[in-house]
This record gives sequence, C-alpha cells and structure tokens, in this order.
Amino acid sequence: MSARSLLYEGKAKIIYTTDDPEVLLAHFKDDATAYNAQKRGSIIGKGEINCTISKVLFQQLENHQIQTHFIDCPAANEMRVRALQILPIEVVVRNIAAGSLCQQTGLSLGTVLKQPLVEFYYKNDQLGDPLLTRDRLLLMELATPKQVEQLQQTALRINTYLSNFFQTCGITLVDFKLEFGLDSQQQLLLADEISPDTCRLWNSSDTDPNSRVMDKDRFRRDLGNVENAYQQVLERVLAQTAASG
Ligand code: TMP
Repeated sequence: MSARSLLYEGKAKIIYTTDDPEVLLAHFKDDATAYNAQKRGSIIGKGEINCTISKVLFQQLENHQIQTHFIDCPAANEMRVRALQILPIEVVVRNIAAGSLCQQTGLSLGTVLKQPLVEFYYKNDQLGDPLLTRDRLLLMELATPKQVEQLQQTALRINTYLSNFFQTCGITLVDFKLEFGLDSQQQLLLADEISPDTCRLWNSSDTDPNSRVMDKDRFRRDLGNVENAYQQVLERVLAQTAASG
C-alpha cells in the first residue's frame, strides 16, 4: 500500500501526494458547486463518470500530440497525474454563445460564433474568477507572452479535436474550460479534467433549450435529471471510443 497524504481539497477533487514526488493522485468527488460555491449539492456517481470521461478524452488528446497530465486510473474515481505547477488561469473556448458570454455581451443564447473564441479568466475565488485581457494577464505575470500564445493555440487544437469527437457522439460542444500546468522542464501540459462539469454539451438532435442540456447547467439551473444526463454523456463517449477502435 503506497503512502498518500492530503495535499489539497478543491470543490470537485481531492489531491493527494504519492510516494513519487512527480506523481499526484486526484480523487474525483460527487460534490457539485456552482456560482462560486454559493450553490452546493451532490450528483450521485459524478466522480466516477467525470474521471472516466476525462481519462478517455485525455488518452485521445495524447494520441493527437497534445500533452496532458494523465498517467492512469487506479480506480474508477481516481486518476494518477503528473505533478505540475498549475497556472492560475482558466482558458475558456466557446463555439456557441451561452452562459457568461450572453450575460456580458447581450448575444442571444445559441448564437453560433463565426470562429471559436478563446478567453482567459483569473483563477481566484476571492475575486470571482474575473475575465482577463491579454495585457492584464501579462501585467500580472500569470504567464509569459510565449506561454499565452501556446495556451491559445493548444486550446484551439483541443477544441477542433473535441468538437469533432463530440459531434460523432451526437453531442454539440458549446464551450468548455481548460487548465494547464508546467512540468519540471517548463513544458506546458493540459491538466484538471474535461467532463460535463467543465463543458457545455447539448444533445445535437434536440432543440429544446432545457431538455438538450447534458452538462452541469442541469444542476446550475435546477433542470433535474442531472445524473441521467452525465450517464448519457459517459455512455455515448464510451460507445464512440469503442466504435472508433
Ligand atoms: P461561463 O459561460 O460561465 O463563463 O462558462 C464557460 C465554460 O466554462 C462552461 O463550459 C463552464 C466552464 N466553467 C468551469 O468549468 N468552471 C467555472 O468555474 C466556470 C465559471 C465555468
């Protein structure tokens, strides 16, 4: 039995150290929060579902030359990952207007963007994760100009891959959030998770603004059937992965 000790407990995951200083263990929780943790609840089975979806997507991205922190999953809700220095930046990619983009610009929900929009947010709960301009990001030295360019390009490549993959699952990738970190060689790797907690996913064959939602907006907006929606995403992702060999 390897020694593990608690390093950090976040809203959706608990991170443990392991015997190897280069490796951490992420435990995915069923806990759900929204609106900067003002709304709290639980989505039964979410830990296992999000861990499994993230595993499959990280493996596919690795196969497409996108480096991630993923190592393996010793249990359905546990992922061994490379220890990284996580950048305090949330990188959001949007294909269709929803959420804060609609609230802050007046664009109507569902407007298809002419090209994907990449945004940077400051990962800081006390400040409410504010939207950053590129100049503010550089001013605060959250990343170097070269890293900002790499974040932008990598996020767009991930978007191209994931949009196509989800389309084959009958799911429209509306928007999503990514986190990145630096390894001991200062290489930028994709970190955190990719799951219905961090993506907006709409059932492509459904145009109803409520019933099409297959992601955490069901929890945020009290739409019900949250567990079913997460399970549906998992089943479609696994079926498509098996079909594509
Ligand atoms: P937003 O429209 O609320 O800015 O969210 C954009 C995307 O980022 C959406 O897919 C949800 C995801 N997201 C997170 O994963 N964590 C967060 O804390 C926030 C605010 C958004």
